[in-house]
Amino acid sequence: MSVEALLTRDYDANPGPVHERLRAEYGPVAPVDLLGVPVWFVTGYEEVLHVLQNKGGIWSKNVDRWRAHAEGSVPADWPLLPVFQVNNSAFAEGATQHKLRAAWTKALAPFQDHSQPQAQLLEQAIRQYADDLIGVLAEGGPTGWADLAAQYARPLPLMVANRLLGFTAARGEEVVMDIWRMIDAGPDAAAAFQRLYAAMTELATAKRQHPGDDLPSYMIAADPDLTLDELARELLMLPGLLDFTASLVCNVVVEVVSNPAMWETLSVGAIDETVNRAALLNPPMANLTFRFPMADVKLGNYTVAAGDPVMLSVAAAHADPRFAGALDQHAIRSTRAHLAWGAGPHACLGQRLATQITTIAVQRLFTRCAKLKPALPPDQLPWRPSPFMRALRSLPVQYELAASRVPAPADAGVPETRPAGGGEAAEQRSRSPLWSFLRGLRRGR
Ligand code: HEM
Repeated sequence: MSVEALLTRDYDANPGPVHERLRAEYGPVAPVDLLGVPVWFVTGYEEVLHVLQNKGGIWSKNVDRWRAHAEGSVPADWPLLPVFQVNNSAFAEGATQHKLRAAWTKALAPFQDHSQPQAQLLEQAIRQYADDLIGVLAEGGPTGWADLAAQYARPLPLMVANRLLGFTAARGEEVVMDIWRMIDAGPDAAAAFQRLYAAMTELATAKRQHPGDDLPSYMIAADPDLTLDELARELLMLPGLLDFTASLVCNVVVEVVSNPAMWETLSVGAIDETVNRAALLNPPMANLTFRFPMADVKLGNYTVAAGDPVMLSVAAAHADPRFAGALDQHAIRSTRAHLAWGAGPHACLGQRLATQITTIAVQRLFTRCAKLKPALPPDQLPWRPSPFMRALRSLPVQYELAASRVPAPADAGVPETRPAGGGEAAEQRSRSPLWSFLRGLRRGR
């Protein structure tokens, strides 16, 4: 069957019409070409949910189940292959997956449960990071231009990643810069990945010897049998997951500044609701990494052969008329039955944390800015080309700061790893490569 390429300029700019065309032509499951490789692309809500839930246990995420790959017909330099070969819990199955997932669940719990001191301190730190970043972007004056993706939404969750990982400020910054190199897949991405893997192994070793109040130490406590390699691979997931959080922050801001109904929801204080609506309308993890059926299976109008790659599209599922058509668009509370956080055995374990970061980021931004005007109409925003992510490359805005007092960083009682503040921290900031980079992005009036 000759099939169309999924990833085109049109798709990057606006995937919605492509999803609708595929749905009209093939039904809820469409054969597509993904960078030269044939893939089943699932656009139906029920079908996506059915595969995610994996009730019959036939769906695997393990790349070793990919028949074409095992037969050698996937080129060794196929650009997405490294994504599937990272060998972490997101691609594991059976006992290995249960073990790693249990370690994540236990280790994340103190940071996601608001009755715990770790969650309360983290919340203070996130506020402080947000205020520090707004402080830097507004150094040129109370009004001006800013790229909210590069100057705010992307650095903020990565600072949270460093705090969760328990890096010192200086080491954390080197890691942030390498994470950007890796995620943006530039020419130095492979070298950055190697450095990051070494940094995570070094971190795992250090935390075994001297545990702290951080995610690696809590993972080790949850499962002391985790090997250094297993731990390093799991920890390497964190920055990527937090970059998805950055795209959620941007997607919420875009929705709020371009949609009066969202602005209204935000102005009555219902930020959770605003975040949920943005996740529904524009899920950051738009398409998921492959699943492979372990036996031939009927899906949509086709029989998918054992070992064929299947890509679930959360974004397309949310627009499926069988799902979207049944929703009340004017309801005060939007549906939580969406798939932006996945479902079933691989469902997201960091939903509360990601929602909290996003909520604080949006709340601080709209508190500190009296006005935020998009510099581009919504249909001209530059989206990052990606098979998996719906994320902006930049989010240019014109801002006007509100006249309110901002708490000095020293007031907030944030522990050591916060990036900047007054006194010693201000001096640290003046030497910091991350803050120099962020200052270089300032555009002023
Ligand atoms: C807005 C940000 C985020 C979104 C939209 C998101 C969404 C998702 C989705 C859809 C999955 C399932 C993938 C699949 O089934 O193929 C997933 C898995 C996962 N998420 Fe999140 N996530 C976000 C942030 C986070 C954060 C901040 C953490 C942890 C700190 C986290 C931890 C995980 C883990 C550990 C998995 C793998 C679970 C498994 O395979 O068993 N996520 N996420």
